[in-house]
Amino acid sequence: MVSVVRSTIINAPVEAVWRAVRDFNDHDKWHPVVADSVIEDGKAADQIGCVRRFHLQDGSELREQLLKLCDRTHSFTYCILSSPIPLIGYVATLTLKPVTDGSRTFWDWRSTFRTPPGREAELAEMVGKNVYEGGFEAIRAIVEAKAAPTARATTSRATAAAPPSAAAIAGQGIVISRHGGPEALRWQRIEALPPGPGEVRLRHTAVGLNYIDVYVRTGFYPLLTPPGVPGMEAAGEVIDVGPGVVNIMPGDRVAYACPPVGAYAQVRTMKADQLVVLPQEIDDQTAAAAMLKGMTAEYLLRRTHRVKRGDTVVVHAAAGGAGMLLCQWARHIGARVIGTVSSEDKARLAREAGCDFPIVTRGQDFVAAVNDITGGKGADVIYDGIGGETLLKSLDALAMRGHLVSYGPAAGPVAPLDLSLLSRKSATLSRPVLFHYTADPADLRDISSNLFEMIRRGAVRVPINQRYPLAEAARAHADLEARRTTGATVLVP
Ligand SMILES: NC(=O)c1ccc[n+]([C@@H]2O[C@H](COP(=O)([O-])OP(=O)(O)OC[C@H]3O[C@@H](n4cnc5c(N)ncnc54)[C@H](OP(=O)(O)O)[C@@H]3O)[C@@H](O)[C@H]2O)c1
Repeated sequence: MVSVVRSTIINAPVEAVWRAVRDFNDHDKWHPVVADSVIEDGKAADQIGCVRRFHLQDGSELREQLLKLCDRTHSFTYCILSSPIPLIGYVATLTLKPVTDGSRTFWDWRSTFRTPPGREAELAEMVGKNVYEGGFEAIRAIVEAKAAPTARATTSRATAAAPPSAAAIAGQGIVISRHGGPEALRWQRIEALPPGPGEVRLRHTAVGLNYIDVYVRTGFYPLLTPPGVPGMEAAGEVIDVGPGVVNIMPGDRVAYACPPVGAYAQVRTMKADQLVVLPQEIDDQTAAAAMLKGMTAEYLLRRTHRVKRGDTVVVHAAAGGAGMLLCQWARHIGARVIGTVSSEDKARLAREAGCDFPIVTRGQDFVAAVNDITGGKGADVIYDGIGGETLLKSLDALAMRGHLVSYGPAAGPVAPLDLSLLSRKSATLSRPVLFHYTADPADLRDISSNLFEMIRRGAVRVPINQRYPLAEAARAHADLEARRTTGATVLVP
């Protein structure tokens, strides 16, 4: 059980402070992290049992219930009913007492709760600093201005987090000067603006390379108008946070995999709710290598198609970044894994990643091989990140009522598909995108924590087989497109 206690002295009489904090429904009027608040079911704000539903500045919604309120002791107790922040069994009490000279107030704010393993210190610090100390400072500013001036009061610990620096922070990054080949990537000066409401500013420590970065660079995916910084996956340290950000703090180690582009940079400002705070045992490079490809493996195997023990799964590009994670995870579930690769060396890597039957496609027809391996039945699900002509062939390797999941076009766009082709096998076709599965912060937390758990248990190992200085991203892109990379690639800023 985590216990958080903060206290302070306010230079105003206890009744004045009580008037300011008593209303369970108006914390949005004074607390810097609360955006709006409403009491459910039309109850009074001091009715025991009433529930306040409120939003934080970053958009998160919380519900808290009033458990006790006493005007004689100037105290109230409340608990969290639902929250996107994992403060489990959270019960807090706020108590005011007059200081003996009568014109000042001792304010005690404390709580107990549980957290997911490893997040105790981080969440205790967030509650203590952002919620309690932030609240002290806000009330102090309101009531001390009205009260007779006396000596300046201090909190019992450091004061609330320093506001972000108003200046932009300069760094270097990769800029796409125009849509085109790897030569369009330039190492240039960039800057990160001060974080606005709901934003954080990061110093990247590791950046993930993904095939989507190639599509962005060429203009195949219209996600960037040059000049601009590409990249959708990175890990780093929080420099400062904007107003209303309560679950991320300066110094936190975080990672992300999401649009908008901008990861190929030493420093960056972005939305806080797209970040995941990293558990201690996930190092920065592993996070930068795994967030996009590993969360993709999670949703493809558990959400787009729920793979079961005994299923036959085909993974194309089985020695690639997404491919090696898909193979390991599918094998862990108990599936029979067939993979396609372009060389014997890649076949060895795929086998090490849990692929039972690597098929070397140079010199071998994968459809015939899948049919051989399955005794003519075909695969229950095929994960195709290659596209081009491979996709239609994949249909031929599918079992009756099988599921073809087209999740990327590394070999080029897929030709328009005649739907009646699916009726030959009552086949299902999906074209999913990670970012649609992680757009809701609750889903992002769920998918990323499943991934971290798999890594922690050793069920999935993240193979970082190439590292390049970020400044040499052009070389990394050329290698990826020429099929010279295997597993994951990290760019070091
Ligand atoms: N939809 C989503 O949510 C999502 C998320 C992540 C990734 N993806 C997609 O998943 C695919 C894999 O991404 P990744 O970043 O992990 O890349 P990767 O698999 O590490 O690299 C691509 C691999 O594709 C194979 N390939 C086959 N034909 C190719 C061609 N004509 N040109 C280049 N490569 C070819 C190569 O392996 P062999 O040499 O062994 O054939 C190559 O190593 C991409 O299509 C990507 O867009 C989609």
